[in-house]
Amino acid sequence: MHYRMTLCAFLGAGLLGGCLVSESARDRDVRPLSHGSLPSLHAAFIPPSPETIPGDQRGEAIRLGFKVIVDTQEYAQAYVGNVLTCTNCHLDGGLNPSAASFVGLSLVYPEYQARAARDMSLAERINECFIRNLNGKALPPDSEKLEAVVAYIGWLSQNVSHARHISWRGIPRIAPSRPPDAGQGRQLFATKCAFCHGTEGQGTMAAPPLWGPTSFSRGSEMARVGVAAAFIKANMPRGWGWALTDDEAFDVAAYVVSQPRPDFPGKKYDWPKGGKPADAPY
Ligand code: HEC
Ligand code: HEC
Repeated sequence: MHYRMTLCAFLGAGLLGGCLVSESARDRDVRPLSHGSLPSLHAAFIPPSPETIPGDQRGEAIRLGFKVIVDTQEYAQAYVGNVLTCTNCHLDGGLNPSAASFVGLSLVYPEYQARAARDMSLAERINECFIRNLNGKALPPDSEKLEAVVAYIGWLSQNVSHARHISWRGIPRIAPSRPPDAGQGRQLFATKCAFCHGTEGQGTMAAPPLWGPTSFSRGSEMARVGVAAAFIKANMPRGWGWALTDDEAFDVAAYVVSQPRPDFPGKKYDWPKGGKPADAPY
């Protein structure tokens, strides 16, 4: 994926945790091998080349937005309540088509969201991740940094002609062949995940926490077993995505989501008009 390496080089490799991953590991990460719907997706997934970031004020905003995404702790500290960064989940700065990529999202929003039972702008959706996934608080609507993230996503979306072409949207979902088994997941975690994420899921120098007070809240989409399983299947262990079976991904996801994490006080207001997914943890 040369555009990624170029993007890293262009925007400053030091900023990008994801750029520390070797190129071969990155290629494997997005290679459309074991996922049936990916080949066509791959053809259409064309993020712009970094040379097209304009040199003007808008270009400045795009660069700032990128920094907020890849180093949220530094660039949006006041709005973050845990140790995570956007790109820990939206891998490779939102450029990874298997990890809720940002490419194309500017064409999708505003969009109706059942969880809030109203239309939501892209800026509001970004703030949802600040509140729930970073266990923090919303940036003010006129915040320069919030506008910068919107500008970055707008720049990433410029080659997408229509919202219906975004076949890579979200995380490619999988289905288990039997009910998930958190006990099996615990053993899998010890052999396949603890090395990087820590035996207590607390995170290490190599990887962010998966549970505990410094991880994502119960209001996060990642706290749903189906979403976590899909993310883990396609992306974990980091650099070796698609290595677990679907059942293994569900088992380890069931274990991870069953562990303690920050509560989300606003949860009582979610899905006021129905539409709650079956795997919502509350
Ligand atoms: C080789 C090290 C490594 C291994 C092994 C690994 N991960 Fe990760 N994981 C990472 C890194 C690094 C990130 C953050 C990615 C980034 O910032 O680019 C991450 C991110 C995550 C995230 C999203 C961010 C968060 O903290 O919640 C989840 C969930 C996750 N991993 C689950 C797992 C599970 C489950 C396993 C075992 C099947 C696993 N990982 C194995 C390195 C690893
Ligand atoms: C703990 C993991 C995690 C972190 C950290 C995180 N997100 Fe998310 N985000 C998700 C998941 C999971 C989804 C839903 C994906 C799905 O439903 O397939 C999501 C969805 C989104 C969406 C909507 C995607 C769409 O297709 O409509 C946007 C925009 C977004 N996040 C932005 C951000 C930004 C900006 C940050 C940092 C401020 C961030 N997220 C931090 C996990 C995370």
